[in-house]
Amino acid sequence: MVRISTNISEAADCLNREEIIGLPTETVYGLAGNIYSEKAVRKIFDMKQRPLFNPLIVHIGRTEAVEQIAQNIPEQAYALIAAFWPGPLTLVLDRRPGIPDLITAGKDTVAVRMPNHPMALALLQTLEYPLAAPSANPFGSISPTTAQHVADYFRDKLELVLDGGPCARGVESTIVGFPNGVPTLYRHGSTPAEDIEAVLGELAYITHKENAPDAPGMLARHYAPATRTIRSEHIAQTAAEYPNMKIGLLLFDQALDVPNAAHQEILSPSGDLKEAAMHLYAAMHRLDQMGLDLIIAQQFPNSGLGRAINDRLERAGK
Ligand code: TXA
Ligand code: MG
Repeated sequence: MVRISTNISEAADCLNREEIIGLPTETVYGLAGNIYSEKAVRKIFDMKQRPLFNPLIVHIGRTEAVEQIAQNIPEQAYALIAAFWPGPLTLVLDRRPGIPDLITAGKDTVAVRMPNHPMALALLQTLEYPLAAPSANPFGSISPTTAQHVADYFRDKLELVLDGGPCARGVESTIVGFPNGVPTLYRHGSTPAEDIEAVLGELAYITHKENAPDAPGMLARHYAPATRTIRSEHIAQTAAEYPNMKIGLLLFDQALDVPNAAHQEILSPSGDLKEAAMHLYAAMHRLDQMGLDLIIAQQFPNSGLGRAINDRLERAGK
């Protein structure tokens, strides 16, 4: 049975034995292993049932370590590192030889980030290698934002989850790369695109590819609850179209008068997108466990963190 622990040296012991652990970060929990251990990395792919063509993010504990992972790093990347690391921004850069093909799925590029979570940083700084860590959920399902979510997903298949509390940001990192030298956003996430554009100027956007995605977060259906999920701008009206269903609502800031809603999740009563992002996945997990027939999710304001929230809800609904 999986142990939930706050002991960093216990987590380091596990990793040094080429085992994998549940790792807290500020965005979501990761399933982490030594990037240089083929055994550990294969176990990550197996446990997530993740296709091998989907590359992993390399997590580092010091900004300088980026130079051991990547080369030809553009000035614009350094500007983003200075502005956002440690924090929820992943950079896709030219990889150094020596970064295993399993990590990059054979690509010439590698994704790197420095998480802003005290336990993750303390752990990374004691290790002699970086950690590969995809979100700690089976492929295509809702990302975990508590240690318990990770334990519930993997039970006896995982030895240890390091418990760093509920994730403060709650939505995955934003991913930016530089194909042909053009700063390009691949995945909306916890660093708002507007904040990145404030540093670099306008970005190109490549956030949706059906086949051979550069990022699995680009697959149309992803981050999905098992319960059928739809989105609506007129929730009460939509709910009325399903009179015989047990319905749950996923809402931004206020409860609605919907007589046939069995349950309503309100992500931020004060209307704060940061708080809404933090609560999003936990609310999706709760709704998914209520035996509902249908989840109806609200449309969020399409700016700042609202874009990442809308993106996840849209993919949940496909
Ligand atoms: O917030 C996060 O980023 C979390 C925490 C655990 O750090 N991790 C996470 O990992 O979301 P994952 O594996 O669920 O998503 C990683 C994304 C994938 O969409 C993957 O395709 C993309 O990063 N990626 C990795 N390497 C890439 C590359 N070389 N080029 C383009 N995308 C890449
Ligand atoms: Mg994921």
